Amino acid sequence: MSDRETNTPHEGVVVLSTERLVLRPHGLSDVPFMMQLNSDPDVVRYTGDAAFASEAEARAVVERLIHQFEAWRMGRLVVLHRRTGEELGWCGLRWHEDLEVADLGYRFFRRHWGEGYATESAGACVRHAFEELGLPRLVAHAMPENVASIKVLEKLGFRRTGPTVFKGLSAQGFELPRPGAPAAR
Ligand SMILES: CC(C)(COP(=O)(O)OP(=O)(O)OC[C@H]1O[C@@H](n2cnc3c(N)ncnc32)[C@H](O)[C@@H]1OP(=O)(O)O)[C@@H](O)C(=O)NCCC(=O)NCCS
Repeated sequence: MSDRETNTPHEGVVVLSTERLVLRPHGLSDVPFMMQLNSDPDVVRYTGDAAFASEAEARAVVERLIHQFEAWRMGRLVVLHRRTGEELGWCGLRWHEDLEVADLGYRFFRRHWGEGYATESAGACVRHAFEELGLPRLVAHAMPENVASIKVLEKLGFRRTGPTVFKGLSAQGFELPRPGAPAAR
């Protein structure tokens, strides 16, 4: 079954859906939700980010996410609970034009950790990346202490590519080639 769904009521455009979740692009109405998410120090601890200093700063980030999705037809997506419509966090791809590769990322409210939402939503993004966008590979980064994030990547089949620097911090690099795609040089 395809993860893509177009005929649902959430903000008009739904990009992906899973058994429990709906993933859609950001809109300007997501600014308060994004501010709330980053306001928890536990949520941003291993991300290289901090709480937004102002609503204007959060809005600038959301505008950038909207622009990225419009430019590349891929991006970080808001993850909602399919039944309740509650915003749980975000998950998705970010296209790096200079490197010609997309990275996978995710971030959820702490009260929803451990319920499998990251694995479920990221799994849908990976399938979308390979089966619909036709990308040959995905990359990801996680700080070595971020056990939960590394577990999610490993459950999805990502393999370690070695130490790297992400947002100025020491991180572990990961890569997932599309099944059947030639190995990267
Ligand atoms: C990383 C994050 C997205 C994971 O979300 P999640 O919905 O809880 O993830 P899942 O439930 O799908 O899977 C987490 C896995 O890690 C495991 N895990 C969590 N904390 C762990 C720990 N301290 N030690 C060992 N395993 C741990 C869980 O048991 C689960 O594995 P399982 O399914 O085999 O039981 C969430 O913790 C988060 O939002 N963190 C803050 C933002 C962040 O760090 N993003 C990633 C930046 S690289």
